[in-house]
Amino acid sequence: MVKVALKDGVYWVGVVDWNIRDFHGYVTNRGSSYNAYLIQDEQTALIDTVKNTFSEELIQKISELTTFDKIDYIIVNHVEMDHSSSLPIIAKLAKNARIFASPRGREALIDHYGREFERVETVKTGDEIKVGKKTLRFVEAPMLHWPDSMFTYLVEDKILMPNDAFGQHLASSQRFDDQVDDHVLMEEATMYYANILMPLAPLIIRKIQEVIQMGIPIEMIAPSHGVVWRKDPMKIVNAYMNWSAGETKNKAVIVFDTMWHSTDKMARAIADGLTSQGVEVKIFKLRAYAMSEAITEILDAKAVLLGSPTLNNLMFPTLSSFLTYAAGLKPKGKLWGFFGSYGWGGGAVKSMIKTAKETGFEVYEPGVEVKFVPDGEDLKKCFEFGQQIAQKIKV
Ligand code: FEO
Repeated sequence: MVKVALKDGVYWVGVVDWNIRDFHGYVTNRGSSYNAYLIQDEQTALIDTVKNTFSEELIQKISELTTFDKIDYIIVNHVEMDHSSSLPIIAKLAKNARIFASPRGREALIDHYGREFERVETVKTGDEIKVGKKTLRFVEAPMLHWPDSMFTYLVEDKILMPNDAFGQHLASSQRFDDQVDDHVLMEEATMYYANILMPLAPLIIRKIQEVIQMGIPIEMIAPSHGVVWRKDPMKIVNAYMNWSAGETKNKAVIVFDTMWHSTDKMARAIADGLTSQGVEVKIFKLRAYAMSEAITEILDAKAVLLGSPTLNNLMFPTLSSFLTYAAGLKPKGKLWGFFGSYGWGGGAVKSMIKTAKETGFEVYEPGVEVKFVPDGEDLKKCFEFGQQIAQKIKV
């Protein structure tokens, strides 16, 4: 296999998952990768492992660089199974290796893989391990992505290995940001942030500020998914700061579902009302688009409009799912509006508004409802509803 070196003695030994399309519900149209890194100096350290369906490929990659008895340290930056589920087999092969994780990481390893992982040693922020001339320094990063998460920083090489943070679900034969299409890279980095890290915005800002205050120079950011940022690592750091600060533009996202196209027609009329006021609009019909695609567009939108037909006096189930998904990701600073159609008895708009209020979303009331099929007058009301939302978000 081709050796991929980040610097002298720092190798990528990860795997590319070209075919994954569903990452626990997040639609990964461009696949992903699970990145592990081997550091070779007087001693040898393995940073993270890979999803266990790819254990054999990881073993092969490591074997081309060293023998397992020469691995002195295994660092577990994060226990979620896409990064740790090859650990049991790797730990058996690397019999001499000491394993390090954060205190919460040690607990989680025992909970995942059993008491043999009671031998895991813990590190905290500022702790270092020398592997010869190279030094590994640890920075605890709870909630990025789990409470156990930590970053490993290679001091002399100035490489930050932050595991999930700054990742992208992007399968590629190339390993570096300057080798892939920049638009595709940022699109995937945005989607990854929106669907995984958005609810953690305040922690992200604090962690980035903490790392900056440590005064550690960063030449590369080598995350656990996607490509390594080496051309301009601050580009993704700044993007995270902007997203976490809740930067928005004059944009609205309409997410709807429809049974007999009434709600569909309403969505289009509302979109016209918004665009008539200069607002950029993106429309997503659930069951045509994944929720993860709609959430990505919501990241920098000022307004979100949800439309649903009434089914059994409630919102349509896809809208219920979407509201649950959005509630977990906690998009901040959006105005939420609601619309929908009904036949014999209403209920969709009322149930969506109730759920949104319980979630803590800022709701624009009243919503718009149409009985059966919208006529010209109804579509005018929808157009005006779009205009009202546009005026509201201009303020
Ligand atoms: Fe890529 Fe939180 O695991």
